[in-house]
Parts: sequence; structure tokens; C-alpha cells
Amino acid sequence: MQTIDNNARSSSQGYGQTSSSSSKSNRNQTVTPQAIGALFQLPDYNGGNKNPLQSIFNLIQQLIAQLRQNCGNASNTTEYRSIDGTGNNKKNPEWGSANRSDLRKTVPQDSSREPGGTTEQRLPNPRDVSNAVVAQDGNTANSKGLSDLFWMWGQFLDHDITLTPTSADPADYANIAIPAGDPYFDPNNSGTASLNFARSISTTDANGQSQQTNAITAFIDGSNVYGSDAAHADALRSHEGGKLLMSTGDMMPMENNQFIAGDERANENIGLTSMQTLWVREHNRLADELAQQHPRWSDEQIYQEARKTNVAEMQAITYNEFLPALLGDNALPRYTGYKADVNPEIDNAFATAAFRLGHSMLSSTLLRLDENGQEIPEGNVALRDAFFRPDKVQEAGIDPILRGAASQTAQAADPMIVDDVRNFLFGQPGEGGFDLAALNIQRGRDHGLAGYGDTREALGLTPVNSFDSNVWREGFGAKLASVYDSPADVDLWVAGLAEKPAGDSLFGETFTAILTDQFTRLRDGDRFFYQNQFSGQQLKDLNNLKLSDIIERNTDFDNVQENAFVASNSHLSVQPQAAIATTTTSSSQQSPVTQRSSSVVQSLGVNTNRSSMSDMSQQMMQSDKPLTAQQIRDLMQSVRNGFLG
Ligand code: HEM
Repeated sequence: MQTIDNNARSSSQGYGQTSSSSSKSNRNQTVTPQAIGALFQLPDYNGGNKNPLQSIFNLIQQLIAQLRQNCGNASNTTEYRSIDGTGNNKKNPEWGSANRSDLRKTVPQDSSREPGGTTEQRLPNPRDVSNAVVAQDGNTANSKGLSDLFWMWGQFLDHDITLTPTSADPADYANIAIPAGDPYFDPNNSGTASLNFARSISTTDANGQSQQTNAITAFIDGSNVYGSDAAHADALRSHEGGKLLMSTGDMMPMENNQFIAGDERANENIGLTSMQTLWVREHNRLADELAQQHPRWSDEQIYQEARKTNVAEMQAITYNEFLPALLGDNALPRYTGYKADVNPEIDNAFATAAFRLGHSMLSSTLLRLDENGQEIPEGNVALRDAFFRPDKVQEAGIDPILRGAASQTAQAADPMIVDDVRNFLFGQPGEGGFDLAALNIQRGRDHGLAGYGDTREALGLTPVNSFDSNVWREGFGAKLASVYDSPADVDLWVAGLAEKPAGDSLFGETFTAILTDQFTRLRDGDRFFYQNQFSGQQLKDLNNLKLSDIIERNTDFDNVQENAFVASNSHLSVQPQAAIATTTTSSSQQSPVTQRSSSVVQSLGVNTNRSSMSDMSQQMMQSDKPLTAQQIRDLMQSVRNGFLG
């Protein structure tokens, strides 16, 4: 007989603190013959209900609920994962919880590559590498025909598992010098331009080495939807019917014109915002369903059960649909159950290099299509105009964005990335615009990631000693040779993208090894992994679930191709490429950023004591002028710092 006990943890772990007392006491009872006996001896057993008939009725309801669970109509266990990830591993309760140091699992640490280090001094300038290797002219298409939904899922997933906080202290900056005459960032050849680069916050380990932090839970546990700490999670709840808060149009709640979600980056681009919205809707849909099936369940019980199923769905899609598309079928060892000795925590090289693979696949235009496959009157959105634009999600909803993303083929998985993020990230050059490639390269050095040579050696891969080696994608050996002295020196993010695909993987041996290790540990080291929690029909349903099901259940986009990660125009009456052609011209025009960014963190009651945060956001809210790109970038930085304060 099962024990119903979903409140074994302290309230600081994010649940069990808000449910009504009567229903909580119901749930904490073990349904045993003793309990039945107690019912007759103590008629007020049921939370003060003095009516024995009512109590018997309540008990029968509980027994039916338990029978249903045993028959597979609900999950098999009633212990819920904590919000902050603690307690998942019983022996090592901190494993995978928020605010833990990243692991050095696959790639050795080489602090000589850090800013100011001996090796760093002879490495090429990150912007030079970006210009020589990463610059992309025009559109490419990835070899597997994967859709924009593929990278949107990748980013959404990343925001469930990694968030590396950076320092607000200018003394910790390691700015990236811009080569004189850079066409975008130093067109007047001043030779003095630079890109601000805030180093990641780190702690010093027992060996005197710097180790960076993951601010969110490592587990695939929907922390991007629910948050990684109790206060945040609580602020996102409606506290009625187990639901999450929503705003008009079935959108996420808003504060100061920005959506609020479990992860602070939810507004970063309109595709990501749409994905975030989809999963809040799915939670509420599940909550409605559960409330109907279990009219006596409390808000808390419905919230936890809906969260459990929602997270299971995210895991199922990640492992059964996304990873096979990324790494090929059966790339991970077969699941043989939870392993308490597996540490699921994030590998520094995964967060800082390998899983940044998605940057290479971003499309320059985000299509917005109607049900006939036509561009909507509000138009497609250039990626450079899609950053922190919740208004663009509100104006026509998420359906056209998801329809466009399902239809369009993502860019090639190679070292090249579109100008929207290489020159116009969060603003125009000179007005706060950034280069995501230069950031990735500098971040790898900031974290002391070993170069390509030491990395391959540590992974047991054959050494690559020449830029003529056939390990490189066509043409990229020569490009790398134009900036690096030796293959061993190449920064991991660039080298990994430049490798030819290995087998059915989208990427080469190095990234495939790092990704396989991380996703295997995230699965095997998660006591609440869905295959360890569900059984029977419910497990079968989860194993068959597709992202297309989630989209169809929660939007009016109801003819999604079965595998939404593979682009299809079956539901379109125009070809996506035609739509791109008409929008690339407009994407080069500057569009003013008119939205106020929000003090998301303050609204959630999380510590925002840092004066830079509150002063700046107050100034912004008081001004009638549109935010500049620099302000948006500063705000993003300060939100990040405030969030961790
Ligand atoms: C429009 C889309 C995207 C934009 C604008 C974007 C932008 C960024 C920025 C600005 C950073 C921090 C860079 C730094 O200072 O080190 C970052 C980090 C990262 N991005 Fe993206 N990204 C996008 C999509 C993706 C996708 C599709 C993926 C993966 C499939 C991805 C994976 C990552 C990872 C793993 C990190 C490190 C996160 C951390 O540990 O803090 N990103 N991205």
C-alpha cells in the first residue's frame, strides 16, 4: 500500500507551504487498516470534519485515488522533486541543486588560457577569430533538415539546466579588444573600441583553481518554467486549482512589459518566449484535467502532480525526440534505472562550449505564418529585432511564431553564425551591439577551458596535428589556420563546431562525447527521471509523446508535422524561402526598441539589493524614451546579478 506524503521536505524547498491545511492533512494520511480504524474511533480525524459519513466518503475518495494511481492513471510515486534541486540524491543531497560549482568532467582546466595567462597572450583575439572563421554571408541549411523549433527547444532546455552568473564589478571585466578598422565595431579605424566582457563569478577550490557556478538546478526539472528557488516558484503560482499565473491572451504574467517565467532569460527572443508560454499553458491544461479527475485535491496537490507530469513530458521530448535528432538514434547508453553514484551536475565544457552549439543554427529571420502558411500582416521578425520583444509575442500570439519555426529549416551546424547575433546581438554595433561568437570564445578562456589538443587527449580521441586534417568541415581547417598557430590551441567552442559530424550526430567526436556524457548523467543521476517515476499506460504515453502534441494541445496550430524538429512546409501554401527573401532586406534596417524592460526580479521578491539594479531600472521606468540597446544589455546583466544577489 502506498503512502501519500508529498510534504516530506521543509517549506524552504518550495512546496508544502501554501496548500490549505485541511487538504494537506488529508494527503499526509497513510491509508491503512489502522487509519480506517482510526476513522471510526476519532470522527474528527479528517481535518476537523465531525461528520463520520463525510469522513467515510472522503476516505473512499482517497482509496479510489490510490487505486487509480496503482492502475496507472497517475504517477506511481507521490514524493515530489524540490524546487531548488536539493534532496534528489539522498546521499549527496546538494548534487544538482542551484548555486553549485560546475564540474570539470570532460575537459581539463588550463588556467594559462585565462585572461592575462601565459597561453592567452599568444592566442588570437576573439573578434579576429569571429571575423575569420565565424562570419556568415547569406543563408545555409543544416544537413538533417532540422527546423527552427529544434534550436528553440535547445535554448529552452539550456535555460532549464545552466545559468552562469557574471560579475557586476568592473574590476572583473576582461573586455575584448576590437581590431582597428573592424567594419562593424570600429568603422572609423579608431583602434580603441572594445566589447565589454564581465567575467563569470567564480570560487576558488581546494587546489587554488577558479570554478564557475551554475545558478539554477542542473536537473531537467522545468526550472525554466517553475523557478529554482522557493520564493520565485511561489510568485509564479496563482494558488488556485494548482495553476500558474497567466496574463491576457493566455500569456505568461507580465511585469513592467516583460514576461515573468521560471528563468530570467524568457524574453531573450520571441521564439524562446513562445516555447516558455507553451509550457506554462501545458501546466495549466494538466492542472485543469487533474482538478476535474480529482475534485477534492488541493491546489498544492494539483500543482505538484501537474508539475510532475509537465516535467516528465519535457524529459520525454528531450530524450526521445530532441537528442536523437542531435546525436543520432541510440547515442546514449540504454537506460537501466537511477544510479545514486552518478553526479548529474553540469560540466563546465558543456555549458561554456558544447551546448552553445545552438548559436550556429539560429535563423536570421523568425517567420510568423498564418494557418494558410502566409506571412501574417504584422510580418516576420528579423532575429536582431526579436530580442526582448514580448510585444511582438503579444501582438499576434505564439501560434504564428511556432508555425513559422516548424516550417523553416535552421541554419547549418557549423562554425558560422548569422550577423544578427555576431554583430547585432542586443543592439546595433556601437550602441551596445555584441558578437556572440567573441563572447563564447572569451567565455571559454574566462573559464580556463583547455584548448582543442588537450581536450581531445582527455577524451581519448586521436590527436589532430594539422589544419589539413580531414577532421575539419570543408574549408574550416584553412580558416582556423589563418588565425591560430596550431590545432591544439583552437578554442573549444570553435573547434567543436568546425569538426565534421561523427556518425549520425550533427556534430563531431568532441562535442558528441561531451554532450553524451552530460545528457547521460542528467538522466541516470536524476532520481525523479520520468522512466523511474511512471509506469504502465502513462509511461507508454510519455514515451510516445511529441513536441507536436504539446503544440496542438495548447495552440490553434493543429496540423503540426509529427516530428516538429524536422522542418516541413506540408501545411503551408507558400514556400518558407520566399518569405525569408522578403524579410532579409527589412532585417538590415534598424528597428527602435520601444519596450520597457522589467525589474522581473524585484517583482518576484528576490533579493535586489544591488543599487545598480534598482537605480537603473527606476530610471528606465521613469523615462518616456525608448530604451537604448546598451540599456537593455546593462539591464540583462543587472537582472542576472540581482537575481543572484
Ligand atoms: C536567439 C537565440 C540565442 C541568443 C540571442 C543567445 C544568446 C546567448 C548569450 C548572450 C549568452 C551568454 C554569452 C556569454 O556572455 O558567455 C548565451 C549563453 C548560452 N547559450 Fe545562447 N543564445 C541563443 C540561443 C541558444 C541556443 C539555441 C542554445 C543551445 C541549443 C544556446 C545555448 C547557450 C548556452 C549553453 C549558454 C551558456 C549558458 C550559461 O551557462 O549561462 N543558446 N547565449
